[in-house]
Formats: sequence, C-alpha cells, structure tokens
Amino acid sequence: MYSFKAFLPTKLIFGVKALQKLPKEAKKLGTKAMIVTGRHSTKKSGLLDRVLSLLKSAGISTVVYDKITPNPTTTQVDEAAEIAKEEGVQFVIGLGGGSPIDSAKCIAIASLNEGGIWNYVKVGGGKKPKSALPIIAIPTTHGTGTEADPFAVITNPETKTKVGIGYNAIFPAVSLIDPELMLTLPKNQTAYTSMDAFYHSIEAFLNKNANPYSDLLAIDSMKRIISNLPLAYKDGLDIKARTELTWANTEAGITETITGVIANHAIEHGISGYYPNIAHGLGLCVTGPYLFEHIFNQIFERLAQVGREVFGIYENNDKRAARMMIEKLRDFQDRFGLNKKLSALGVEKETLKKMANTSYEAMYGVIETTPGDLKKEDLLEILERAF
Ligand SMILES: [Fe+2]
Repeated sequence: MYSFKAFLPTKLIFGVKALQKLPKEAKKLGTKAMIVTGRHSTKKSGLLDRVLSLLKSAGISTVVYDKITPNPTTTQVDEAAEIAKEEGVQFVIGLGGGSPIDSAKCIAIASLNEGGIWNYVKVGGGKKPKSALPIIAIPTTHGTGTEADPFAVITNPETKTKVGIGYNAIFPAVSLIDPELMLTLPKNQTAYTSMDAFYHSIEAFLNKNANPYSDLLAIDSMKRIISNLPLAYKDGLDIKARTELTWANTEAGITETITGVIANHAIEHGISGYYPNIAHGLGLCVTGPYLFEHIFNQIFERLAQVGREVFGIYENNDKRAARMMIEKLRDFQDRFGLNKKLSALGVEKETLKKMANTSYEAMYGVIETTPGDLKKEDLLEILERAF
C-alpha cells in the first residue's frame, strides 16, 4: 500500500523561448534582483547579457554574483548573502546549472536569516529558516531537477561535508525551463547531467516510499533519457532530443520532490565531498549498479519492471529480468564512458571509510528510505566494490 503528499508550488514555464517570459515574471517579484551564476559559461554564451537586458527592459536593477563553482561552498553563499543584504535585493535569480541555482536557493535563505547558511543545515546549526527571498530558476543543464524541487546541495569546505537541505521556502517561485539554453552543453556534461536525472528517477522508483504519482513520472523520464541521450550526445544541437532530456529532468525533479532519492545519492555526496572534481552524474553511474546488486533481493521486482518498461527486456522471471536490467544499464553507461572505477578517478583507498561515514551521517534521511536497512559497513562495501 502507499500514501504520499505532493506539494509543488513552483510555476513551471517550459518550452523553447520560455526565457522571453522573464521580464513579465520578474516584475511580479520586485525591482531589484541578484543574479547568481558561475564564472564562465553564461558569459561566454552571451546568456548573462541576454538576461541582464531582459531585466533592464522590465525596469529591474541587478547585482551579479558570479563566483559560484561546481560543488558550491558555504563560503560563497555567505559572501553573496552579505552583498544581497547590503544592496537590498528583493529576489534571487539562479542562472546556470545545478550549482548556481542551488546557491541562489541558499543565498535566498542566508539573506533573511542570521548566522550564515551552515546554521540552517541539519548536521550544521540545525536551525530552521523562517523565510527566504523569492527565487527564479533558469537552468542551462538537464540534470539536478532543482528547478522543480525544494532542495539545494552545499559543501562545507572545512569539514568536506556535502549535504542536501530541503525547505518549502526554497521552491523556486518561477522556473523558466528553455531547452534552447541547453544546446551549448558539452558532450561530457550532456551525459553527466542526463544520468543525474536518470538516477533521480530510478532511485525514487526503488524508494520505500514510491507511489503511483512519482512512478509514472520516473518511468516516463527514464524512457526519454534512454532514447534521447544518445541523440543529444551525437549532435548537441538536436533541439528535439534536448527538449526531451530537459523535460525528463524536470519530471525527475518532481519525482525527487514527491518521493526522494535513495542511498546512491548519499554515497555520491560522500565521494564528491572529498573529491569535488568528480562530477555528480559520473559518481552516481560509478556506484549505482553496485548499490543495486547489494540490495538486489529487496528490489529485484522493481528492477525487473524498469528492465521491461524502460529497457525493453522480454523476460518473465523477475530475478533474471532484474539482472539483465543491471547489465543493460552498465552497457548504456559504457557508451558514454561512465563505467569508471573510483581508483581511476583519483580516489585514494584510505578515504573510502571516511566517505562511507560522512555519507551515512550527513545523508541519513535517504539511507533510511532505501530498501535493505543499510549500515555504514554496507556503504563501505559498495564503495570498495566500485573502487
Ligand atoms: Fe542528483
């Protein structure tokens, strides 16, 4: 049996040219905005200039914070929040991939609440924020699903802890999801971000709290990713394939909101907390199949269903179908060079235990919803096999 709650207050504006709706939507939120973005790509592509001129046309003045790196840190968030306070910013625009958008969400909290963002992380200060500035999300990658969820991922550079926070106050007020903005995504990012979305969906599907609402979106998004990632990888300018991957990612974000991910995301946060240069989507592909094998007896019926519905496997026996599914997933990942070993990615054997511990403690919420009652030792075993 199942029970669930679905609260999705974000206005999603989806489709080619969705960005053009920015002036109209921004005007509703105030007259002064902070744009949060990375150091390079939105400048190089001219997108930042386009956004600035759209806002100017609506009479909105702007402050740009452009120091966000992949795996953004609490230091960056706190610095930007100080500027937002000084400048009297009324809303925050996250422009770019998951990192700038998640940072915008954290800045929205830190601007209205005292003591820095770490205060509002469970394993940090453990406080609940009272409110947050309104957020507009403009994604330029089809991974993370952050445009449709109340989550943000942030790293404390001192403790190397990479954690997720989730508050209703940081659902974006509006997300402008424009597949045209994904056309410049390089090949490796195309694969990493699509697989991040794939793992949001499959992990939600395997979650103890899975339900028909999120199952529907999870299966649909996995199908779209399996058939369109090869096309967008081959030709990045294929707008039809980009549109499918972009929607698949938003769907995956909704499944994550309704049901949530499982231990593969906890394990990956452990990895990229210690090794920030390992892309999130790549880390998920490295450990995912090992997790599925580790908890096989608890999930084989669900895996068999994914095998039949997503990978087109014809096999009546559930255990056999589930094994075939894991192999098909590995073959698929292999086409994009995603079946690496952790050792080949520069991970040192001595850190595996620390990573298992941090994953378990910082991300216990998603360990708990993973079938198989996982302990720290299980996470370590999975990491060792992936090593
Ligand atoms: Fe993710």
